Amino acid sequence: MKLSVLKETDKGETRVAIVPKSISKLKGLGFEVVIETNAGSNAAFTDEEYIKAGATIATSSSEAIDSADVVVKINPPTPEDIALLSEGQILISQLFHLLRPEITDALKSKGVKGLSLDAMPRISRAQSMDILSSQSNLSGYKAVICGADNLGKIFPMLTTAAGTITPARVLIFGVGVAGLQAIATAKRLGAIVEATDVRPECKEQAESLGAKFLTVEGEGVLVEGGYAKEVSQEYLLKQKEVVNKSLSQADLVITTALVQGAKSPILISQEQIEMMKNGSVIVDMAVAKGGNTALSKADETVIHNGVKIVGISNFPAQIPTNASELLSRNIDTFLSHMVSEDSFKWDMEDEITIGTLVTK
Ligand code: NAI
Repeated sequence: MKLSVLKETDKGETRVAIVPKSISKLKGLGFEVVIETNAGSNAAFTDEEYIKAGATIATSSSEAIDSADVVVKINPPTPEDIALLSEGQILISQLFHLLRPEITDALKSKGVKGLSLDAMPRISRAQSMDILSSQSNLSGYKAVICGADNLGKIFPMLTTAAGTITPARVLIFGVGVAGLQAIATAKRLGAIVEATDVRPECKEQAESLGAKFLTVEGEGVLVEGGYAKEVSQEYLLKQKEVVNKSLSQADLVITTALVQGAKSPILISQEQIEMMKNGSVIVDMAVAKGGNTALSKADETVIHNGVKIVGISNFPAQIPTNASELLSRNIDTFLSHMVSEDSFKWDMEDEITIGTLVTK
């Protein structure tokens, strides 16, 4: 089987789906691996490294796709990619089939099997294949670094001959994968950290990393497929009351609240931003799905009343080497699960296969 890895073409994307370290594993599964030239160059992986690892280089995407059995990339296929794909090929990438049905429709009409990496079920068995978790984890780190960079303050307490600097206060909304890493990173840098989430079990997890948990009393939240469901307006109002004191004292706020299959909940209104300190910063990680604040804008920094609201939609692209390494490990583990004796198993009893196979 021939497996081809495409160079990402989305604006600002710097990652690559497969790194040289995965090549020997893929060859062991029976794949001949082809890499589109310079696919890894923005993530610091050269064509020479891929060749040394046992891959061959294609000079263009059409050469890579032509005669491939499996085509791998990170972002959904572009219309140009789809035009080059042909019947019987397997495409592995994010397909966002609930949000962008036109892509799955196009693949279906071409007879291409689409395995969607973003549709990986959130079950323990699939954790090592879950690209959303691996990328969120790194992004939680990077969001804190970005916040620190935008602040006119340092994080730790510092006692100097010229006086004492008090530690920064960080407030984190959403204690999932990104939020937990954000707590850990902010603590390591010496900040006082508080966090809140709709899932009560997050209290223990946040506290184990040294954060104070802000509990909102009320209805328990429904969790489906590892993701929180939407909470009521009444709950959101209670949450505002619980967090407002911390919000008005915070130097940095990181928002990571996600509700599966829905627009991100607005957790910080304009009025609440106006009660924040001059010079404070919000990093809104949910900005690609509409944002967790009333004023966030994707890939822009909005300044309102002296508060900076930073909306970065692709943090992993700012750390492409590590982000690609983890992605590549997720994908090679997924392929090890799907393939046996040089062919795909298509086990339609398997939750991972059923969850990810969005066109067939
Ligand atoms: P996750 O599902 O692990 O965590 C989200 C958390 O938000 C859950 O713990 C959930 O209970 C909580 N939540 C939902 N509604 C809430 C509410 N009303 N108040 C407080 N908490 C609430 O998701 P993960 O993987 O940590 O991702 C978090 C967000 O970051 C997502 O929106 C994701 O798309 C985004 N993200 C953004 C990146 C970027 O580059 N900007 C990179 C990676 C993820």
